[in-house]
Amino acid sequence: MNEMNTKIKKFAQLILDAKNIVALTGAGMGTESGIADFRSPGTGLWEKVNPDEFASIHSYVSNPKKNLDFMLELGMAIFKAKPNKGHKALTKLQKLDKLNGILTQNIDGLHQKAHSKNVVELHGTAYEAICMGCGNIYPITSMIDQVRSGRFGPSCEACNGLLKPNAVFFGEPLRSEILSQADRLIEECDLLIVLGSSLLIYPVAFYPRKALSLGAKLAIINIQETDIDASADMVIHDKIGDVFPRVVSIVKNEIEGGH
Ligand SMILES: NC(=O)c1ccc[n+]([C@@H]2O[C@H](COP(=O)([O-])OP(=O)(O)OC[C@H]3O[C@@H](n4cnc5c(N)ncnc54)[C@H](O)[C@@H]3O)[C@@H](O)[C@H]2O)c1
Ligand SMILES: [Zn+2]
Repeated sequence: MNEMNTKIKKFAQLILDAKNIVALTGAGMGTESGIADFRSPGTGLWEKVNPDEFASIHSYVSNPKKNLDFMLELGMAIFKAKPNKGHKALTKLQKLDKLNGILTQNIDGLHQKAHSKNVVELHGTAYEAICMGCGNIYPITSMIDQVRSGRFGPSCEACNGLLKPNAVFFGEPLRSEILSQADRLIEECDLLIVLGSSLLIYPVAFYPRKALSLGAKLAIINIQETDIDASADMVIHDKIGDVFPRVVSIVKNEIEGGH
């Protein structure tokens, strides 16, 4: 049996032995749906743009037009994307009662499109716009329509404030109720599965350490290495779609009495 098969079996056993499993997903979860991540060598968005210039709240407010061009490009990839094998495997795991919830950094809504439940969107969603003046929420389409008709300071119908996508930009705080939901999931889990995150951005970078310090096990699937690999119970450096569905199939067979 080759090394990968052994790892996949061991990963499935971690899942079978756990009682409260949480998945933590990052932009690597969306690449197989055609949405570029930020930090993959060669294809990551950060190779094309400087994050301080294009995804920070300060630069957005001072020059919405420059930022909106880039955001529309990411947005269009997101709106046409479909859930991939990795998203579907998570939903399957949840149906087997082996996944409590999903903490995601992604703004693409693909876990929900794949019918997963209890999804906490740490960084908000690309499907909504929010008014920076009064906090009103609009469908993102109304903001895009304004931008497409040449209004590069898209504005709120109620107060005329500047609209922005309802996703967290650099320099913005995460919502406190979202952080509390995330803390609860991390505190209660006995297995944390990280899928497709470089684990470089806080608070996500902190969650695996927190879970480990509370006695949970940690499993990671990520193409590139992460800083916490050495402390994990299982690390696979490969594509989620090639590996994770195989793990979930074994779990399903074991639970349903097959083999
Ligand atoms: N899909 C989206 O919604 C989307 C897309 C781009 C960026 N973002 C935002 O980007 C920020 C970046 O943080 P991050 O840590 O999530 O992403 P990141 O770009 O920093 O890291 C992604 C990681 O995923 C790995 N990866 C890429 N494709 C993979 C695959 N098929 N299988 C396994 N691993 C794969 C890469 O090696 C990389 O280490 C987040 O805040 C997120 O909000 C979201
Ligand atoms: Zn408003």
